Amino acid sequence: MPILLSQGASNVKKITTAVFPVAGRGTRFLPATKAVPKEMLPIVDKPLVQYAVEEAVAAGATKIVFVTGRYKRAIEDHFDNDFELERELEQQGKDDLLELLRETVPPGVSFVSVRQPAPLGLGHAVLCAEGVVGDEPFFVHLPDDLIHGDVACLEQMRQVYETTGSSVIATEPVPREHTKRYGIVALDDVTSNPARITQIVEKPKPEEAPSTQAVVGRYILTPAIFDLLRTTGRGAGGEIQLTDAIADLLGKESVYSYSFKGTRYDCGNKLGFLRATVEIGMAQPDIGEDFREMLVGILDKK
Ligand code: UTP
Repeated sequence: MPILLSQGASNVKKITTAVFPVAGRGTRFLPATKAVPKEMLPIVDKPLVQYAVEEAVAAGATKIVFVTGRYKRAIEDHFDNDFELERELEQQGKDDLLELLRETVPPGVSFVSVRQPAPLGLGHAVLCAEGVVGDEPFFVHLPDDLIHGDVACLEQMRQVYETTGSSVIATEPVPREHTKRYGIVALDDVTSNPARITQIVEKPKPEEAPSTQAVVGRYILTPAIFDLLRTTGRGAGGEIQLTDAIADLLGKESVYSYSFKGTRYDCGNKLGFLRATVEIGMAQPDIGEDFREMLVGILDKK
């Protein structure tokens, strides 16, 4: 991976904790999300949150922290061992399914849940994890943003962090008319990747956005963010925004933007979710080819 920084930062701490803020209600997917967490909706045969955990584990995470709200118990259950089902599959000789089931709980990885008492915003959700994260750098992963590529996005970012020793935020270009959906960054050198962030602003109007480079749901943050989150007031949408605390962090430390390799699917909205289902469906080794033919057949009939 061509990272344009030659020296490794000295004394960088290894990142082992990944925080997954999953306390939002997912109203854009009602009624599906009335009793089922949005993060449990599957793309083909795997819930979004499992793709998320696999990505963090691929980047070296051994402690998974879910910041949850009400109605999210299914996420905790999904990452618990189900010995009864395992025994049944074993007795039936369904070894392939047994292996799939066991893979959901990777060895050497621990799962912790903390509760966000009220949905006060992404920044507040991250602050809720402080006691479990401690004084360490950590990953933040929003499972809505599914990123598909050869190297896990968080692993690409971890390599940037090891070189810079600084917070790293994944970004990608978006059409100018979409800036009001995202955090938007300005960079000190737009030809460099990673590049130092000089400004970050949450959901700017297109005419006010400092660029069209948008923050997506992957962050590596230093623990300095917690003190800043504590004093961050309500911002866009009346919520405590992570972006606003990162804007404060810029005054204290370098923060890098990293334009990752891979395709991002915004699975928090229906079109993005359907696109992920179609593209990842066509990439399945067992049914991909048949699925593609089926789609072509459907389109031919229209
Ligand atoms: P979204 O903006 O997608 O909100 O949150 P949402 O509630 O999940 O979905 P909609 O808009 O109602 O359909 C982005 C991420 O931040 C988390 C969400 O769980 C999601 O991963 N989040 C947001 C929290 O954990 N707590 C909050 O207070 C807000």
